[in-house]
Amino acid sequence: MTSQHDGTRHAGKVPQEKPGFDIAISGRHIAKKFGHVQALTDASVTVHAGEVVALFGDNGAGKSTFLKTLLGMIKPDAGEFIVADQEVSFQSIRDAQERGVEAVHQDLALAPDLSVVDNMFLGNELLSRGLLGRLGVLDRKEMTERADQALRDLSIKLPSLKVDISALSGGQKQALAVARAVMWGHTAVLMDEPTAALGARQSAIVCDLMRTVAERGLGVLVVSHDLPRVLKVADRVTILWRGTTALESPAADLTVPEVVATMVGYGKDAAA
Ligand SMILES: Nc1ncnc2c1ncn2[C@@H]1O[C@H](COP(=O)(O)OP(=O)(O)OP(=O)(O)O)[C@@H](O)[C@H]1O
Ligand SMILES: [Mg+2]
Repeated sequence: MTSQHDGTRHAGKVPQEKPGFDIAISGRHIAKKFGHVQALTDASVTVHAGEVVALFGDNGAGKSTFLKTLLGMIKPDAGEFIVADQEVSFQSIRDAQERGVEAVHQDLALAPDLSVVDNMFLGNELLSRGLLGRLGVLDRKEMTERADQALRDLSIKLPSLKVDISALSGGQKQALAVARAVMWGHTAVLMDEPTAALGARQSAIVCDLMRTVAERGLGVLVVSHDLPRVLKVADRVTILWRGTTALESPAADLTVPEVVATMVGYGKDAAA
């Protein structure tokens, strides 16, 4: 226990709009082998509604693989998944999206030559009914209004919605990727290294966004090597060690050195 945890930061099990579920997303006892590499042996993570859970682990511990199994991008060899309190078996990322699970990938997957609005709707463009009921006209007015609303909801300020993504700073792009995930996700948002490319101020903004998203009743799962910052923002922590969950704990009960010791398997594998 350290003084950095003031107790109030973790109070937010958010209240006003109670979601209709307890477990936002959970993967239990997940195993996955790639050829001879046992990427996951027995990995378990659970994120409740309104919670930020940090997933820590050394390089190669299996964090990204775990996230991809939650998203239906990788089919695991064993294990079970729950989304919004229901057992699920996703075959694709589309299946995950249909249950309200969205991701912010490390490479962001934004299209640099498209505007903010177009990126917010990439793959989900709103079609308006044109004359004679023809489908196929992009409803730009509606798209712009919804993108603007989503960004305002999260207090994200961008120079303009019409500007190409390439004109935004790293932090603005990251915030936009989070906003897009929140606009389409209504159960859980999974983030892989969201602050890796960011400076201190921008990292702080993205961490604040994690809390904002959780306060709307979604579950937030964040993979990060930014231990001090993410430990502060998280409610709970799960640590993977060589593909296996080594620890699940309230964040307030852990210090950074304790997290590091568990990440490297201290006391588990003295010979390594
Ligand atoms: N598609 C793949 N084919 C073969 N091996 C893979 C594949 N994806 C991951 N691996 C292996 O699985 C293990 C876990 O990788 P993973 O990317 O999940 O780790 P990580 O915890 O995200 O690491 P990092 O912190 O470096 O991002 C590694 O040994 C990696 O080389
Ligand atoms: Mg990774």
